[in-house]
Amino acid sequence: MIETIQWTGEGVVMIDQTLLPNKQEFFTCRDYKDVAHAIRTMVIRGAPAIGVAAAMGVAIGIAQADQTDLDAQLATISAELAGTRPTAVNLFWAIDRMNRVYREHRHLAYEDLRDRLILEAQLVRAEDIEINTAIGRNGAPLVPDHKTVLTHCNAGALATAGYGTALGVIRAAVESGKTIDVFADETRPFLQGARLTVWELQQDGIDVKLITDNMAGHFLHSGRIGCVVVGADRIAANGDVANKIGTYSVAVLAKENDVPFYVAAPISTLDLTLATGDEIPIEERAAKEVTHVFGVSVAPQDTEVRNPAFDVTPNRYVTAIITERGVARAPYTESLRALMESSK
Ligand code: MRU
Repeated sequence: MIETIQWTGEGVVMIDQTLLPNKQEFFTCRDYKDVAHAIRTMVIRGAPAIGVAAAMGVAIGIAQADQTDLDAQLATISAELAGTRPTAVNLFWAIDRMNRVYREHRHLAYEDLRDRLILEAQLVRAEDIEINTAIGRNGAPLVPDHKTVLTHCNAGALATAGYGTALGVIRAAVESGKTIDVFADETRPFLQGARLTVWELQQDGIDVKLITDNMAGHFLHSGRIGCVVVGADRIAANGDVANKIGTYSVAVLAKENDVPFYVAAPISTLDLTLATGDEIPIEERAAKEVTHVFGVSVAPQDTEVRNPAFDVTPNRYVTAIITERGVARAPYTESLRALMESSK
């Protein structure tokens, strides 16, 4: 499996997800501004992967900082990284974690503080892979055998440090001996399903078929789909789930057809400070993502566009939320808080 993101002597190295699947090229971030650029332009994307990138962004920023006023520089680095994408809470979670470690070790000599932050960023990455493996373990029993799993966007190894959340559940189900195949929504407008999920599952030899987003209802009605599994960018205290635009439509169609709809996400994706999903900030991206496909215009010039990158699925459509600490079911206000407070 190709590494999504790595800390190296040259800088923070990421596989460039804007070029997949046609080119497998790596983007090297040589300073924190490069990391911010990579998150903003979706060289790296997916909530947990964005979190790992932000942690490494803070580490590389401090490693290159002028030692005279470190506190002010940490604030500048953190603000730049926090301004990249608003919806995935893992971004802010990771920046907060790095700031906390900085404060706890501020008394050390600069070299020791720097090394401690680099270590923490590497820990965020390593823990993410372990967490996804645990999500997979918890989710695999929920996947019906001899059926198809429908997924939306890419919540795979590419969206994390490795293994994936929704695709981690699929991988674990396959590893446990289940005979399943996958339908991947293409996921307009950025095509994470077509470009990334299909490519990633093909690398693993998992049977995957690509469908366009508007085919999901047809197949959910057909009886072929055993369950839907998707990832999340932010989950409010009541279990409302922000995820890639189009997820809400799939969830409604799943409920209409009595197909379980599962959300797989790490605890770091929970934002229990928000009572409901209405409070989740939704990123609006450039019009060109909608008017153009691979640089070719598909709409009249000067067409007005709306391009929300995420939607919120109300909790009543969510059958369960699969985390590394266990599976939460309604009422989510209680079950999510209990998981958040339980030890690992
Ligand atoms: O805009 P993206 O590609 O960053 O959106 C990604 C998603 O919506 C994923 O489903 C989500 O981040 C979960 S990734 C494990």
